[in-house]
Amino acid sequence: MKRIAVLTSGGDAPGMNAAIRAVVRSGIAKGWEVFGVEHGFAGLIAGKLNPLGPRDVGSIMQRGGTVLGSARCPEFKTEEGRLAAIHQMSAAGVEALVVIGGNGSQRGSHSLVRMDFPVVGVASTIDNDLYGSDVTIGVDTALNVALEAIDRLKVTASSHQRAMLVEVMGRGSGYLALMAGITGGAEAVVIPECPTEPERVAAEIRRAYERGKPHAIVVVAEGANPNAQGLAQYVAEHHAQLGFELRVTILGYTQRGAPPTFADRMLATRLGVAATEQLAAGNPGVLVGVVKGEVVATPLDEVVSGKKPIDPRLMEVARVLAR
Ligand code: F6P
Repeated sequence: MKRIAVLTSGGDAPGMNAAIRAVVRSGIAKGWEVFGVEHGFAGLIAGKLNPLGPRDVGSIMQRGGTVLGSARCPEFKTEEGRLAAIHQMSAAGVEALVVIGGNGSQRGSHSLVRMDFPVVGVASTIDNDLYGSDVTIGVDTALNVALEAIDRLKVTASSHQRAMLVEVMGRGSGYLALMAGITGGAEAVVIPECPTEPERVAAEIRRAYERGKPHAIVVVAEGANPNAQGLAQYVAEHHAQLGFELRVTILGYTQRGAPPTFADRMLATRLGVAATEQLAAGNPGVLVGVVKGEVVATPLDEVVSGKKPIDPRLMEVARVLAR
């Protein structure tokens, strides 16, 4: 192997830069040339590949986002798009690709592998919904951002005797909401995996007031039905008397933009190094992730068909501790 490329794809995640740095430097240490692709699969199709040296990835580890840029690329879902990407890599002499990203990105990796192009995926998404890794790059930082916000919201909520509906990211996954809810001491958690009647949320808020709590915090996942705005509307229409006044805070992209924590830098570094090791061992077609504390390589065939469920016992923990 002489030349590989690396790209970041899908929603950016804090720690992606540490993964890029690890891929570049560990690849160079193996005697390879490493190319960075601008803006994910879109940049690959457009042939935006640039050589990266050790200095190009200096002092990027502490920065959020991705220095390569990222994108969601509908064109890559077509065979034509993928053929164009393979053509660009062949023209640049690139023999293998490392894809740092989440579910959609690893489906892209899988389709390249099915076209006989060697790819290794690196597990990265703040949503933590990717099969093949217990924890993915960006989750720890996103959770810490959510916790800091919840801690502050509790302060102002207590001053005003308010209930706060705090919406965190997660279009199809309630992992962030559940973990932030448990560790932020929420009165209720609403996630897409466990449908919750708005009436039940209203009852929890009311009960918190009656128990003499100074505030109530409800953590809602973006993908829950209803979401935070929907719940607020329901409460406004059906409950004049909850005890607490209600306010909504949507944390949104703030969770993606923070500088990575130690845990995310370390995870990203381990996985970036593991990606080049898999290529050096002649084992493409896998996703590198962490399972039970160990770095493991899971075939992309399994990754794209596997589901990573929420642990229902943790919903019970959230409920039991909200007294
Ligand atoms: O990266 C995952 C995620 O942040 C989801 O939680 C969220 O629903 C989605 O990305 C938003 O994506 P976009 O950046 O395309 O708006």
